[in-house]
Amino acid sequence: MRVLVTGGAGFIGSHTVDLLLQKGYTTRILDSLAPPVHDATSLPAYVPREAEFLRGDARDANAWKRALRDVDAVIHLAAYQDYLTDFSKFFHVNTVGTALLYETIVEDRLPIQKVIVASSQATYGEGKYVCRRHPDRRSGSHTLHAENFYPMLRPETQLKRREWEVYCPVCSVTMEWALTDETQVNPHNQYAMSKYTQEMVALNLGRRYNIPTTCLRYSIVQGKRQSFRNAYSGILRNFTQRLLAGNPPVCYEDGLQVRDYVYVGDVARANLLMLQDARTDYQVYNVGGERPVTVLEYAELLARKINSNLAPQIPGLYRFGDTRHIVSDVSKLKALGWTPTKRVDEIADEYIAWALEQPGLRDYYAAAEAAMLARGALRVTV
Ligand SMILES: NC(=O)c1ccc[n+]([C@@H]2O[C@H](COP(=O)([O-])OP(=O)(O)OC[C@H]3O[C@@H](n4cnc5c(N)ncnc54)[C@H](O)[C@@H]3O)[C@@H](O)[C@H]2O)c1
Repeated sequence: MRVLVTGGAGFIGSHTVDLLLQKGYTTRILDSLAPPVHDATSLPAYVPREAEFLRGDARDANAWKRALRDVDAVIHLAAYQDYLTDFSKFFHVNTVGTALLYETIVEDRLPIQKVIVASSQATYGEGKYVCRRHPDRRSGSHTLHAENFYPMLRPETQLKRREWEVYCPVCSVTMEWALTDETQVNPHNQYAMSKYTQEMVALNLGRRYNIPTTCLRYSIVQGKRQSFRNAYSGILRNFTQRLLAGNPPVCYEDGLQVRDYVYVGDVARANLLMLQDARTDYQVYNVGGERPVTVLEYAELLARKINSNLAPQIPGLYRFGDTRHIVSDVSKLKALGWTPTKRVDEIADEYIAWALEQPGLRDYYAAAEAAMLARGALRVTV
C-alpha cells in the first residue's frame, strides 16, 4: 500500500512515517515546512530519506494533485495550530485544505481506499462535567441526582476573579469533570472549530463519495521532535526548556487543570491501525493517554527529572477560551485492540534525553508569552 502523509515532516507525521516505513509501506510526504514549526527551508534531519518528499501547501490544489498521484491512502496531519488571532488561517489550512483533498480525489476520480484525518480533543471545548448536587428538574422532586453537562467557555468576568472551576448552570456549585467520549463536541476556539469543521467535511464528503474516512481526536501528544518554537502549545517542551535554562515553569490559572497526555508512538500506531481496518470507516475515535495529570503535577515531575528545585510560578495568567479539565475516554479505540503504552514520566525521560541533544534548545517562553499577551491570547487577572 502506498500512503501519503501530509505534515509528514512535523512531529506526529515523522513518527507516523517511520512506522509506515518500518511496516513496509511505500510512503510519500506532503509538507510546506511551515514556520514557526520549521525554521529552515531544508528538511529536518529526522525525516527518513526512504520517504519521498514533496514540498507543497495543503491550500494549493496543484500540490494535492501531485501528492495524490499513485497513492492508496492518505494520513492527513498538516495543520495550522498556534492559537493566535489570525482566525481565517485556521479555516484556510485545516478546513478548506481538507475540502481540497476530497475535491481532488472526486474530480480526478482517484482510487483512494482510505483517508485518516487528524482531529483534536480541542473539539470538546470544556469537555464533560457532572453535577451530583442539584434537584431533579424532570420529576419536580427534591431528590439530588447526577446530570451531565457540556458547558460553554467560562465567562471572562469569572476568570478575572481567579475563579477557575466550572460551575453548574442550575445550582452554581463546582462540577466534577467526567471522561469525555466521542458523542458530543463543543468547540470554543478557532483551532477547535477548524478541526471540527474539518471532520465534518471529511466524514460527509467521504460518505457521499465512498471514500472511507476516519477521524482521530488526539489528546495532547508528547514525545521527541515536537517543535521548540510553537508559541502556544506543548507543556513538556515548554517546562523542560524553562527548567533546563534555570527558570521556573509558568503555570496558567492555578495549575490544577487536569489533562491527559498521549505518547507520539501510540498515536502513530493508532494512525496505522485505521489504515486497513474497515470497521473504522466513517468513525471518530479518541486517542488519549487515559491518566489524568494536573499541570502542577507535571511541572513537579519535570523538576524532579531535571534535578531542579525550582518551584512552578503561578502568576495569575490565563488563556481565554482554554479548557479547565479534560480527559478523553479511549474505550472505543481500545475495543479495536489499541492501548496507550507509555506513562507521562516515561515520555518525559525520553523527551528530556532528546531535547538535551538538540542544537536549538533554549528557553523560548518569554518571547511566546509576550506574543500571546500582545494578541490577547494570554490574559492577566486583576
Ligand atoms: N501535537 C498535539 O498535541 C496534537 C493534538 C491534537 C491534534 N493534533 C493534530 O495532529 C496533526 C499533527 O500535529 P503535530 O503536532 O505533528 O504538528 P507539527 O506542527 O509538528 O506538524 C505539522 C506539519 O504540517 C506542516 N504544515 C503546516 N501547514 C501546512 C500546510 N498549509 N500545508 C502543508 N503542510 C503544512 C508543517 O510544516 C509541519 O511539518 C495536526 O493536524 C494537529 O492539529 C496534534
